[in-house]
Amino acid sequence: MKKKERILILNWKSNPHTLADAVALADETARISSGAVSLFVAPPFPYLDAVGKSFAKAISPISLGAQDIMPFAGSSITGGISGYMLQDAGVSFVLVGHSERRYVLGESDALINEKFLTALKMSIVPIVCVGEREKTGESQAIQESLDQLSLAIDGAVSERFMVAYEPVWAIGGNKDVVPDYAAGVISGIKKYLDTVGSADSIPVLYGGSVRCENISSLLHFNEIDGFLVGSASLSYDAVSCLIEKINAS
Ligand code: PGA
Repeated sequence: MKKKERILILNWKSNPHTLADAVALADETARISSGAVSLFVAPPFPYLDAVGKSFAKAISPISLGAQDIMPFAGSSITGGISGYMLQDAGVSFVLVGHSERRYVLGESDALINEKFLTALKMSIVPIVCVGEREKTGESQAIQESLDQLSLAIDGAVSERFMVAYEPVWAIGGNKDVVPDYAAGVISGIKKYLDTVGSADSIPVLYGGSVRCENISSLLHFNEIDGFLVGSASLSYDAVSCLIEKINAS
């Protein structure tokens, strides 16, 4: 049987606090040989240029991404980072709908949909983050995730996007992860994706406290096409370990 290729997206969130530390982290990440793992990294905006230069010298290819995109390409919005700027910085993917932006910053489904459509228009692959806020049963988690997903991708005809299923209660780096529950919700998301396009061409990732100690139990599930990692993305040892375990699976 052909080995499953998996995606690993590292979301640095608002870290590290200085450009020097960001370059040091990027240089370390660039030294990792990723094998069969497709590696994606989303640093904060101010570091995109320097991190991109570091990744240009990486041992294995690393896709550079952004954590947000201003909606409505071409408009002027105070504080907005436009798709044109992201393209110019070499960005190939962008996170949209992350729970911290939904619940801490109050982003609406309509705004997330605008960001999704803008990313597609700018040929930047959107990674749509969905997931239930409170721990529930599997079918309720699927329903909540699909409600968010259907609104986020409304009006799109492209299959050039990914979905990250991140139960909000599992985000934080050291929370409990329930692998068969995660795989069950991801299966539900894939069934839905088959009705709007082809689930085979839309990777569905898991995110929420993925770390070296628990990734092996998630890797048993073929429906999980990869991982979106926050806390563990900030350490060379943790990222190397994740890549090693994915490659060994
Ligand atoms: P975590 O974050 O790995 O620290 O739980 C994941 C995310 O929020 O994308």
